[in-house]
Amino acid sequence: MSAVLSANLPGNLPNPASDAALAAVRTTVHATAASSFATDLLAALGNQPRSISPKYFYDAPGSALFDRICELPEYYPTRTELGILQSNAAAIAQHLGPQADIVEFGAGSLLKVRVLLEALEAPARYVPLDISGEHLHAACAALRADYPGLRVEPVVADYTQAYALPARLPSAGQRVGFFPGSTLGNFTPAEALLFLQHAAQALRGGALLLGVDLVKDPALLHAAYNDAAGVTAAFNLNLLARANRELGANFVLAHFAHAAFYNAPMQRIEMHLQSRQRQQVGLCGQVFTLEEGETLHTENSYKFTRSGLHALAEQAGFQPGPVWTDAQQHFSLHCLQAPV
Ligand SMILES: C[S@@+](CC[C@H](N)C(=O)[O-])C[C@H]1O[C@@H](n2cnc3c(N)ncnc32)[C@H](O)[C@@H]1O
Repeated sequence: MSAVLSANLPGNLPNPASDAALAAVRTTVHATAASSFATDLLAALGNQPRSISPKYFYDAPGSALFDRICELPEYYPTRTELGILQSNAAAIAQHLGPQADIVEFGAGSLLKVRVLLEALEAPARYVPLDISGEHLHAACAALRADYPGLRVEPVVADYTQAYALPARLPSAGQRVGFFPGSTLGNFTPAEALLFLQHAAQALRGGALLLGVDLVKDPALLHAAYNDAAGVTAAFNLNLLARANRELGANFVLAHFAHAAFYNAPMQRIEMHLQSRQRQQVGLCGQVFTLEEGETLHTENSYKFTRSGLHALAEQAGFQPGPVWTDAQQHFSLHCLQAPV
């Protein structure tokens, strides 16, 4: 992972790009995304054990399914983190200071930042970054309608690859990174460290507000990733549906089961797509045989302790600051000071 940390975006070029040029850029971005999906899925299917990055869940249908997950009764993280933000909004705002230049990583539907926008004193700008471009642009349109005075500059990018943030605003207060949703937990510990190291550079002189899920009763975790309505299963299976849509693969979704369980020694939920039978699948001219019970590992969701997260943050160059949690200690929100 290597982030280009503070360059100007193509969209900030001195001459406004024509619609045709912008369309060409979008087509190229889409083609690049599809080819990396093809490359990574081919590699995953050819490996043992089989595993692929969870970033491929998030096309427009996948993002819409994630929004539905956030509303499920079993899925405590979203409402718990929102509750923490709401209960501590004034203290958080005081800590982050006026005219914050907010960068949100993996911004999704821009739900949680609204609590910050209400509480912060005169935020200078909001830069939501997400891999799911169509969903991000729709969410930005809704946010602009509700906050017409706010400068919103979305960035469609993959934060596991080189990405560029808009140049800093000379008139702004500190640059504030916002990374809620325990999305950090989707990285392996080594990847999480790399991500935080890059974020520490991108946010120099500022802070990172980081929401992470805490280690807890495995029964609660199990329920959260195995909801009764089957939305998490549909979200997981969307990876195969997306491969059929974008790559012309021939996955039969009914031949795969959603499998999610807590791996206690690794302190993580694992999500897999498990083959219900011996089957062959075709992708980009190659054929792969999956035996009954074999899986494609699609996501990890690591759970954290306060001390473990602090040690990781310090290793990445951050100075741990205040931590806010809910009464049941299910979720935590950390303010980390970036190096100067
Ligand atoms: C677990 S969801 C969290 C969404 C939202 N931040 C929240 O707290 O509810 C992860 C978000 O990160 C985005 N995402 C996942 N992998 C990404 C990547 N490699 N680069 C950029 N965004 C990514 C997804 O599109 C999605 O919006």
